[in-house]
This record gives sequence, structure tokens and C-alpha cells, in this order.
Amino acid sequence: MTQASEIISQSLELLAERVGDPAPQVYARLFAAYPEMEAMFVRDVTGAVKGEMLAMTFQCLMDLDGGYAANMIAAERVNHDAFGVPHEVFGRFFPLLAETCRELLGDAWTPPVERAWAAALARIAELTPI
Ligand code: HEM
Repeated sequence: MTQASEIISQSLELLAERVGDPAPQVYARLFAAYPEMEAMFVRDVTGAVKGEMLAMTFQCLMDLDGGYAANMIAAERVNHDAFGVPHEVFGRFFPLLAETCRELLGDAWTPPVERAWAAALARIAELTPI
């Protein structure tokens, strides 16, 4: 694990300790930015799909250096065509996640955490061309 991945993992652990499951805040931000996406989750009455999707994005963020994230993101980007998710919206999930974590972590979002996330978002932007 590189130092950046380690810092991101630590920030996600801290987030879990402090707020538990951040899914409600993450999806509230997503639906505020893209209200038309909320209806796509209408069948997800238990929240299991949203939870699974968030877990996968966390996995990708913590394993950006290996092949896992690159393959997974590329595959899901294409899978999401079938759900009607535009490519530009798909790629926005990660920055929205970063904004949510930044807000929830407050002072614990330190300059090294900001730098590690910025590096990850830059890499993900390369993997999710519009
Ligand atoms: C803003 C961007 C995104 C939107 C609007 C979105 C939307 C959706 C929707 C509507 C579903 C449910 C599909 C269905 O079963 O009918 C879904 C499932 C899923 N999404 Fe996303 N998605 C986004 C980004 C991502 C990203 C970045 C990843 C991971 C790299 C991802 C991974 C998944 C996975 C793994 C599932 C299946 C979960 C399950 O059924 O257990 N999604 N997504």
C-alpha cells in the first residue's frame, strides 16, 4: 500500500468510527446534485444496493494502486450504461464522496488527507473519461 492509500484507508476508518455508516449523507449529496438519479434506486427499499455500491467505491479508493480498482471502475462504468447512468455522472460519485467525507471529518480532514484524496481523485478522473 502506498502512503496515499494508507492515509485514505485511515480517513475512512475514522469516518466509520465517528459517524458509522455514511451512506445517508453520501446519497443525500448525490441526489441533491443529480435529483434524476434518485428514481433509479426506487427498487432498493432496504438500501442494500446503495450500501453495496458504496462499499465497492470504498474498496476501489483503498486499492487504487493495484489492478483491482482500475478494472472494477472500467467494468462498472460500462455496466452502469444499462442502468442509464451517464458517464459524466458516474465519474462524479468519487468527488461527491470526498466532499461528504471532508464535511463529516471536519478538523480530522488534515492537509495530508486532502492531498491523498486529491491524488486518488486525479487517478479516478483518468479512469472515468467523459
Ligand atoms: C453517481 C454515480 C452512480 C450512479 C447514479 C449509480 C447508480 C446505480 C444504480 C441505479 C444501481 C442499481 C441498479 C439496479 O440494480 O437496477 C447501481 C448499482 C451498483 N453500482 Fe452504481 N452508480 C454510480 C456509481 C457507481 C460507482 C462509481 C461504482 C463502483 C465503482 C458503482 C458500483 C455499483 C455496484 C457494484 C452496484 C450493484 C450493487 C448490487 O446490486 O448489489 N456505482 N448503481
